[in-house]
Amino acid sequence: MINYILASIPLLFPALISIDLLDNPWTIASSWLKYLDDSNRNESSSTSLSNGESEGIEIPSVSSQLLAYLAMGIFGFMLTNRLVPNIKDYTLRKGICGKDMGKRGTALADIPVPEALGIVPGAVFLICLIFCLVGYATSHPSKLLDVNSALLSICFMLFLGFTDDVLDWPWRYKLVLPTVASLPLLCCYNGSTSVVVPTPLRALLIQNQEITIFGNLANWFVEIDVGSDGKFLDLGFFYLLYMGMLAVFCTNAINIYAGINGLEAGQSYVIGCSILLHNFIEIRSESLTRENHLFSAMIILNFVGVTLGLLRHNWYPANVFVGDTFCYFAGMTFAVVGILGHFSKTLLLFFIPQVINFIWSVPQLFKIVPCPRHRLPAFEISTGLMKPSTFECKPGQHLWLKKLNRLDTGADRIPNMTLINMVLSILGPMNERDLCTVLLSLQLISCAFGFFMRYYVAEFFF
Ligand code: UD1
Ligand code: MG
Repeated sequence: MINYILASIPLLFPALISIDLLDNPWTIASSWLKYLDDSNRNESSSTSLSNGESEGIEIPSVSSQLLAYLAMGIFGFMLTNRLVPNIKDYTLRKGICGKDMGKRGTALADIPVPEALGIVPGAVFLICLIFCLVGYATSHPSKLLDVNSALLSICFMLFLGFTDDVLDWPWRYKLVLPTVASLPLLCCYNGSTSVVVPTPLRALLIQNQEITIFGNLANWFVEIDVGSDGKFLDLGFFYLLYMGMLAVFCTNAINIYAGINGLEAGQSYVIGCSILLHNFIEIRSESLTRENHLFSAMIILNFVGVTLGLLRHNWYPANVFVGDTFCYFAGMTFAVVGILGHFSKTLLLFFIPQVINFIWSVPQLFKIVPCPRHRLPAFEISTGLMKPSTFECKPGQHLWLKKLNRLDTGADRIPNMTLINMVLSILGPMNERDLCTVLLSLQLISCAFGFFMRYYVAEFFF
């Protein structure tokens, strides 16, 4: 029961706003039936549908579209929830499984846990999205390119994640391949490559309608919009580069903030709900980017549905592991909505724990400090609690890190540099379930902080 209450918290705010956005579902459903009936009777309407927006296609109301996507998301949840227990036997039979390292020394330690079950929500998501897209692309033909490139990038990343679970790619490939997967997106990106310069920094670029020395220097690489008094900066190629790096970051950031039951799916679920809330707020405010947010809401509603279906089986004690398949699929989905929805900077505000974990991990990721194959927290059999895991070092080595951890200079083990270990060091040992709940609460709080930055603090700077 408590798990259901916890799971409903991130959905609460998007659900409240959706009440405002959705008309009476029965009225909408009867309008759908009427539409189907009309189009059956009037064959000529189907010809006009394929001719494009310019030829007078009737675009369904926002409320009607959202209800259709919501129905698809619920279907995605139910199908994933049902399929995961069936498909896990197949992966187990093929030896795609792992040992739960958080249960070392207990009876559960030797039981193989089916791995790579992210393939189920991934496949269900693609099915749901294709159905949604059939409707979406018919009423928005000009968006067909966006839609197909989104599908291609997500599909490629899902495939790549699954091969990683089966073949265990070395780290250098994990970094390069998401860049390739994001190329279809970047090629068809036709939005602005300009950013708004924060008000206090504008004087650095332009003063009294004249470009400053620093502005001239910046003009070598980017384009300053003199007409807008330095408000806009066209980053051109660098903006595309940033978006490519965003895809690499999103996919890997989720994968390295992992290792305890429920964390990978849980963090993706909370981030997904936050994006949905952001989309709903923008749709409700009838902003100029409303159409982009509707497109994003379509993708994210399906994503949240399938992720919740997986989370049920991955929650402590996990019956299945989500694998890199899910981490890459989730990361790429977020990158796709951030890029095509034109809110990539807001998206990063929902990734604060992942950004902290990534920055803190850099010395280990780049081998400045030794990095063991697994950095997930260690399980202590005597207490049944998780404590920070460590790596081995020589007594005189990595003194700065030992100082940071308040360790003796002669110590021969140092805690691994992850946010999970950092939380355990601050709050003390706790069991796996509580640790996951604490980390997901932290995710929720940081997303709330992200909203505060986006809708309150940003107003002072832009
Ligand atoms: C990343 C992390 C690694 C972490 C691992 C756990 C980096 C550089 N890499 O590696 O430190 O240990 O994810 O996902 O930060 N597992 C559990 N319980 C869980 C989830 C996973 O015990 O709840 C174990 C299982 O043995 C599973 C394995 O982790 O088989 C999956 O690891 P994998 O996804 O292959 O590791 P990486 O993504 O390479
Ligand atoms: Mg992984």
